[in-house]
Amino acid sequence: MNNTGIFAVKPIADYHEEAAGKHLVRALGVPALVAFGIGGIIGTGIFVLTGLAAAQHAGPAIVISFIIAGIGCMFAGLCYSEFAGMVPVAGSAYAYSYATLGEIVAWFVGWNLVLEYMMACSTVAVGWSRYFVKLLDLYGINIFPAWLTSAPFEASEVGFEIHRTTAFINLPAILIIAAATALCYKGIKESATVNTIIVAIKVSIVVAVIVFGAIYVNTSLWAPYIPKNNGTFGEFGWSGILQASAIIFFAYIGFDGVSTVVQEAKDPARSVPIGMLGSLAICTVLYILMSSVMTGLVPYQQLNDAAPVAVALEAHPQLSWLTSWVIWGALFGLTSVIITMIIPQARIWLTMSRDGLMPKYFGAVHPKFRTPHIATLITGVLAATFAGLLPIGILGELVSIGTLVAFIVVCIGVLVLRYTRPDLPRPFRVPAVWFTSIMGVLFCAGMAASLPTATWMRLVLWSAVGFALYFFYGYSHSRLRRGAPEPPAAAAASGAGTR
Ligand code: ALA
Repeated sequence: MNNTGIFAVKPIADYHEEAAGKHLVRALGVPALVAFGIGGIIGTGIFVLTGLAAAQHAGPAIVISFIIAGIGCMFAGLCYSEFAGMVPVAGSAYAYSYATLGEIVAWFVGWNLVLEYMMACSTVAVGWSRYFVKLLDLYGINIFPAWLTSAPFEASEVGFEIHRTTAFINLPAILIIAAATALCYKGIKESATVNTIIVAIKVSIVVAVIVFGAIYVNTSLWAPYIPKNNGTFGEFGWSGILQASAIIFFAYIGFDGVSTVVQEAKDPARSVPIGMLGSLAICTVLYILMSSVMTGLVPYQQLNDAAPVAVALEAHPQLSWLTSWVIWGALFGLTSVIITMIIPQARIWLTMSRDGLMPKYFGAVHPKFRTPHIATLITGVLAATFAGLLPIGILGELVSIGTLVAFIVVCIGVLVLRYTRPDLPRPFRVPAVWFTSIMGVLFCAGMAASLPTATWMRLVLWSAVGFALYFFYGYSHSRLRRGAPEPPAAAAASGAGTR
C-alpha cells in the first residue's frame, strides 16, 4: 500500500489502537444514543421547512418526499453502521474515508462535515432566536429590540453578494450556542442527560400535535394528493416531490452524529447502529404523521410560512391552545439539535488533529471532564460568530449538500472495503451490500442533484478553500504520510504533546 501520496490510506488497526485509548469516557447506553439521534434530527426541518416544501413544491405529497428522503438516509445509515463497528473512532465519515479512499478524500469529507455540523449549528441557532422572540412576544416580554435579534449582514439568494442590514447582532443565537457549548465542554454524560430530557419534551409535543390534530383533519384537503406540475420543473408533480425531498432532507440530518460518539458508547458495536437506525426510524414515522396532519388541517398553500405548524393549528380554534406548546417544542427541539451538532464537530476535529491534519490543540482532551474541550470551544466560538454576525439564510441548502456528499462517500467506502479488506471482523454487516450502497448513492445523489445550481457553486467554492487549506497545512503535517507515531492517549488526555 502506498502511504506517501495524497491518497494514503490509514490502516484500520491504527484506529483500533486509538479507540483502545482511555481518553474519552464510555458513558452512553442505547437509550441515550437513540435520544442523541432524535435530538439531532427533529428541529428546523419539521418546524419550518415542511410548510415551505409543501406549499411551494409537493402539496400533500410532501409525505412521499419524507419517505424518499427517509429511505435514502436509511441506506446511508446502514453503511454508517457497518463502518462504526469496524472503525470505532470519533471521526465518523472522515475516518471511514481515510481508511478506504485515502487522505485527500478524507480531508474533503471532514471539510464537508464542518458544513454539516458547525454550519448547521449556526443555522439552527438563528431559527432558535426567531422562536425565542416569538415566545417572548407571546408573554408580552420585550427585552430584545429588533436590532439585537438578527445579523448585520444578509446574502442574496443567488450569487455571492452581501448587503448590510439595519441590525447589529443576533444576540439570542449567540447566547444559546454559548450555553450549549458550556454544557458540551462540561461532559458527555451531562450533555446526554440534558439532551434526553429535552428529547422527551419535544417528542411529546410532536405526538400531541399529531394526536390532537388528527381529530380535525379534513381528508378532502389531501385531494389531489399530487398536485399537477405547473410547467416548471420542481413545482408540483413528481419533480416537485423530488425537489421537496432534497429540501426536507435537512430534517433528517443528525442521526449520523451518533457515529461520532462511538468512543463514548457502551458496547458500541451493538448500541451505535441501534442508536442511528432506531432514531431514524422513529423520526421517519413522526415526520410522515406530522406532515399528513399539517396538510389535512389547512390547504397546503397556506403553509407557506416560517412557522407552518402554528398556522395549521391556528386554523382550528379548538387547537389554538397547542400553539404555545409548539413554540416551546420548537425551542426545545432546536436546543437539542445545537447540542448534538457541537458534540460531533468537536470529535471529528479531535480525530483529524490526532491524524495531524488539524493543529494539535484540536486534539486536546480535558483531564477532568474527558471532553475535547478546546475543539468544543472553537466550535462554539465559530458557530456563534456565524450565527450572530454573518448571513446564514442561504446556508441550509449548503448544509444539506455537504451532508449528502459525506453520505455518498460512506456508501461507496463500505463497498470498497468489502473488496479490499474482506477479512476484517464486521460486528454489523450491511444487508445486500451491493444493493444498499448503490441505492444509498443514487438516493443521495438524486437529492443533491435537485438542489439549486447556486448551492452547487457555493459547494465548489467551499471545497476550493478546503483543498487550499489541505495543501497549506494538512499535506505537510499528515502523521500517516510522515510515518510519525500515533500520539499516546495519555498525552492527548492532558492536551499536551499530541505530536
Ligand atoms: N435535522 C436538524 C433540523 O431539522 C438539523 O434542524
